[in-house]
Order: sequence, then structure tokens, then C-alpha cells
Amino acid sequence: MQVLEWFSGLGGCTAALRPTDSVVQAIDQDEMAHRTYTQWWSHPCIRRNVAHIKPAAVPQADLWWMSPPCQPYSIRGRQQDLADRRSGAYLRLLELMDAHKPQHIALENVPWFEGSQGHQRLATWLEANGYAVWSGCLSPADLGIPMVRRRFFLVASQTHTPCAPAHQPLAKRLPAFLSASAPQDTDIDPDVLARFTDAFHTVDADDKDAIAACFTGAYARSPVYAGSYLRQNGKLRLFSPHEILALMGFPPQCRMPSDLPRRKAYKLVGNSVSVDCVRAVLAPLYL
Ligand SMILES: C[S@@+](CC[C@H](N)C(=O)[O-])C[C@H]1O[C@@H](n2cnc3c(N)ncnc32)[C@H](O)[C@@H]1O
Repeated sequence: MQVLEWFSGLGGCTAALRPTDSVVQAIDQDEMAHRTYTQWWSHPCIRRNVAHIKPAAVPQADLWWMSPPCQPYSIRGRQQDLADRRSGAYLRLLELMDAHKPQHIALENVPWFEGSQGHQRLATWLEANGYAVWSGCLSPADLGIPMVRRRFFLVASQTHTPCAPAHQPLAKRLPAFLSASAPQDTDIDPDVLARFTDAFHTVDADDKDAIAACFTGAYARSPVYAGSYLRQNGKLRLFSPHEILALMGFPPQCRMPSDLPRRKAYKLVGNSVSVDCVRAVLAPLYL
């Protein structure tokens, strides 16, 4: 399968592909995302604003994977949907889709995307063009991974029948994803610790039944509702970017560049996608 990964970030779709697949192009406008992607993967990645891509500049691919910006739909934002200026790139992509009509199309976004104008516009186009579609919400916890990250997924195909992934019981336990001792730069600001400890979602490093909360791009910046804190060796600390990447399903060699500021590393990781979920929703396209 030849894949175009739009809004590629760290390459969550790239990480989910099979060795025989190739990414013909990954596209992201963010400098650090682009730099990290090119360090981790050998596929071509261009740093471009999707809103300005012309149809002739789009290479041929079997699958278009897209994780467009979620702020227009997120409950934490103003939910301006297609009227939000950050929807410009997604609207452009809908035009490019009409020009190229790729065989398979897949999208990931926050759960509030479901039923939005952005969703309806895509669903109407897919129906008019004869695609078979599955859409629904999925979390790595549904696939036996000890982390919640409920996201909306849509998979459409001209040739295959996408369907809901089967849910699985907890298979890998949280301690298996953790460093034995605190990695560098995972201390919690003492002021934040003093003010918010009672509000933290905390998991114990030895707890085999623990399930981490969803890590967002605001982790380490916003003290609550941005992810879990870890109690290990009698001390509370942050999960490291590498531990979160492991929970997201990225292979161990994927490490954030050491010169990346801590906040930026957590932002890129928190904005990424569960590789296990991507693999599960794309599985019917391989049959
Ligand atoms: C939700 S994240 C997707 C992350 C990705 N799926 C991953 O695996 O890491 C959205 C990405 O879209 C990029 N982005 C946002 N607006 C863009 C635009 N207009 N053109 C290109 N990239 C854009 C951001 O830099 C960010 O990396």
C-alpha cells in the first residue's frame, strides 16, 4: 500500500504500516514535527501548509490518512467547526480529495468531530462517490492497552469493507511501559504539586490493573485533565515522553530529540495518535 500521511506530526500512521507499505509523502507544517519525523522515518516528509497545496503537487497514493487539527471541534475550544480558520487546511483537503479520489481514505479526530459540519461534509462526499464507510470511537484501552485515548476514526474504501475493530481485554500491563526509575526531566513543579496533588489523576507504577488517563498536548503545562501522574518509589512524577510514546504504540527506537524543549516534546506526543488504534482500523483494508 502506498500512503499519503497528511498532518503527519510524529507519524502515527507511518508507525502502524506494514514493512511492505511505503509512505509516498508525509506533510506537516510544524518545524519540530517535521524534524522528528525525518529523524525517525526514512519516508519523504515535506514541511508545508496543507491549505496551500495544489492538486498537481499531490503524489499518487492508495491510502490518504489524515489527522486534521482538532481545535475547531474540541470541547475545550469554541467549537466553531468549519468556520474556524484552522479548518482551512481540512477544507482544502476535501477539494484535493475530489480531484484525486484515492482508493482508501482514513481520518482521526477528537470524539466531538462526529456529527460536526466537517464530518457531514466528508460523509456526504464519500456517499456520493460510492465509498464503503465505517466510523466510530476507539481507545487503546479497547485494544488491551492500559491507556485511555478515545478518538473518532473514519475509514472509507472504494474496494474494501471497513468495519469496527474487535475489543480486547487488558493484555499488556502498565508496569511494562515504564522506566524502572525516574527519567530525566520528569519532576513536577513544587508549586503545582502543592496546589493540585488532590486533583491529579494518579497511577501506581506497580499496579498491574492501572489504566493511564489520556495524555494531551498540554501535559506538563496544564496541571489537571491533561494526563496521569505516576507514583513510583514513593514519589510522584510525570510520565516521560518516551513512556507515553510506548503507550501510544510507537517502537522503542522512537525517542524525542534531546534538544527539544520539554513542553514541545510533550505537545507533539500528546497530539499524536495511538498506533494500535490506527493499525486496528486499517486492518480491513489489508484483507
Ligand atoms: C492532531 S496532530 C496530528 C498528529 C499525527 N497524527 C501524529 O501521529 O503525530 C495535527 C498536526 O497537524 C499539523 N498541522 C496543523 N495545521 C496544519 C496545516 N495547515 N498544514 C500542515 N500541517 C498542519 C500540526 O503541526 C500537527 O502536527
